[in-house]
Amino acid sequence: SAPVITLDGPSASGKGTVAAMVALRLGFHYLDSGSLYRLAALYAVRHQIPLDNEAKLAMAAVRLPIAFRDGRVWLEDIDVTDEIRSEDIGLCASRIGALPALRSALLQRQRDFRHPPGLVTDGRDMGSVVFPDATLKVFLTASADERGRRRYKQLIGKGASANLQQIQQDIADRDERDAARPVAPLRQEPDARLLDTTRLTIDAAVDQVIEWYRA
Ligand code: CDP
Repeated sequence: SAPVITLDGPSASGKGTVAAMVALRLGFHYLDSGSLYRLAALYAVRHQIPLDNEAKLAMAAVRLPIAFRDGRVWLEDIDVTDEIRSEDIGLCASRIGALPALRSALLQRQRDFRHPPGLVTDGRDMGSVVFPDATLKVFLTASADERGRRRYKQLIGKGASANLQQIQQDIADRDERDAARPVAPLRQEPDARLLDTTRLTIDAAVDQVIEWYRA
């Protein structure tokens, strides 16, 4: 089947940006798996499904009415590209991401993105659970301080108001929850290459991934 490159790592490590650029350079498809968790979270909020109602959330996730078109993300035919990026929805996504039934409900949807000529995907468990047979697995990280600054800049750049300390705290909380959960905890797989981007430009990180892939 088609080659897959997985980039897993903590919040605001740069994996999304790097993954999208690697996909562009190789002409591969791209899946931001976090957006699926964010979409499921937004759907739950909209339809007032309690974030601990595992069965109901899983049922909704299997038939989540989403579409990816022209770089935009749609939920029930509404453009939610910006809305799903809020820290609030990120927090909700992290809460429902701890539910095993919700995770299995999203499994096949993620695998369906694997088409020729190939797929680049980023998340927390792309290399460990979703695509264990990936061609190349990368664990992308950066120091917690640097990740806080990146997320802060990202929010400010979008015209949102943001507080650096608060963001660093939220990121630390989310990392802790993602690493501590019993299902698909965030950690580096033994067969994943480690890419620390604390002092790397985006271009340098992209080059490194492509070099590993071609090697
Ligand atoms: O952009 P950021 O890294 O902050 O978040 P994201 O990748 O959009 O993911 C949001 C949340 O969804 C994470 O905190 C995880 O709890 C969850 N998630 C997951 O459990 N598994 C994935 N493959 C992707 C995201």
